[in-house]
Amino acid sequence: MSLDVARIQADFPILTETRNGNRLVYLDSASSAQKPVSVMAAMDELMTHSYANVHRGVYAIAEEATARFEAARRSVATFIGAGDTAELVFTRNATEAINLVAYSWGRANLHAGDVVVLTEMEHHANIVPWHMLAAEIGIELRWIPIDDEYRLDLSSLGQLLDGAALLAVTAMSNVLGTVNDIPPLVAAARAAGAAVLVDASQAAPHMSIDVQAWGADFVAITAHKMLGPSGIGALWARRELLEAMPPFLGGGEMIRDVRKDGFTTNELPWKFEAGTPAITEAVGWGAAIDYLEALGMDAVHEHEQALTSYALAALADRFGDGLTVYGPRSVDLRGGVISFLFPEIHAHDVSQVLDEEGICVRAGHHCAKPLMKVLQIPATSRASLYVYNNEADVDALVEGLSKAEKFFSI
Ligand code: ALA
Repeated sequence: MSLDVARIQADFPILTETRNGNRLVYLDSASSAQKPVSVMAAMDELMTHSYANVHRGVYAIAEEATARFEAARRSVATFIGAGDTAELVFTRNATEAINLVAYSWGRANLHAGDVVVLTEMEHHANIVPWHMLAAEIGIELRWIPIDDEYRLDLSSLGQLLDGAALLAVTAMSNVLGTVNDIPPLVAAARAAGAAVLVDASQAAPHMSIDVQAWGADFVAITAHKMLGPSGIGALWARRELLEAMPPFLGGGEMIRDVRKDGFTTNELPWKFEAGTPAITEAVGWGAAIDYLEALGMDAVHEHEQALTSYALAALADRFGDGLTVYGPRSVDLRGGVISFLFPEIHAHDVSQVLDEEGICVRAGHHCAKPLMKVLQIPATSRASLYVYNNEADVDALVEGLSKAEKFFSI
């Protein structure tokens, strides 16, 4: 393995917890990752020594807090390959980033009959804002289907993109683990005259991404899946688009001037950051990025691919066809998100047995109900891997699943 997992685990106090006498095995990082002590310490340190509101005070600690907040923005921007921090807008999460695009860019640029192309593997955050626009202004939604290997079926891409205004696609499915090759999708969208939004909330924590190399227009990310705190995410977007877009939320910070008869907006990126932002959380996110960069994103990716390979083989060896795994077989096409289902046992029941063993997985539709409908299932259990997981965690999962299978076959 390319990461020293024992050393990494020592940085995550929660992993020393036990439940029902069992070691806690955390396999739900696709939902939200655990936090290393360095993230907690950075947030604590800010609140203990330098906390104040940002961009307002003229006293020392306000300037320190502002400097730390803006340093975090630079870290996030660098981490995703953004050249210009003005293009990096802090939001509450990836969901808010996508809603910002739908609300601001969508309402300004889309009209009745315009087409937004989605994929069948999108998470609700990249579906519902477009449904809302469809209901409000009558845009048409088209869907790129998935194939038998749980990849995007691009055979009709040209037709789907014909006349489209936007392609909104995930870089990695939160259910299937499928990693989508973004540059060719961007090239196809560009050729059709469509803009591109990439939901990178699942991809960015697990592999090196470069928003400029992707060539997309909008990229949504979130901190809490990459070892950072919840409550902060970001939208990266090309400067000319952000400059042309009307503001999203109104209030302090996003204004240059306010009069009785109107207002003017602040410069980027603050034009889209109304109200007091998530200051402590931004600093925590910066520390999370420092942690990941010290590990190296190539090493993180390599570790997860090796562990995913191990997990897929272990599940196949133990359960064969008795357990359906939803997602590409080849680790070259996927990340460490593994959804599975015993055909005769409900995913929630399986997860409950695992919980008794101290094993945390997510069960349900994973906020991807259209995908569940395509797969013709109501739910799956989902194990998701990260830097602090190792083969012992996968072995515990396989043992836990054996218990569940035995329990429900009686
Ligand atoms: N999108 C998150 C998940 O897949 C919440 O669990």
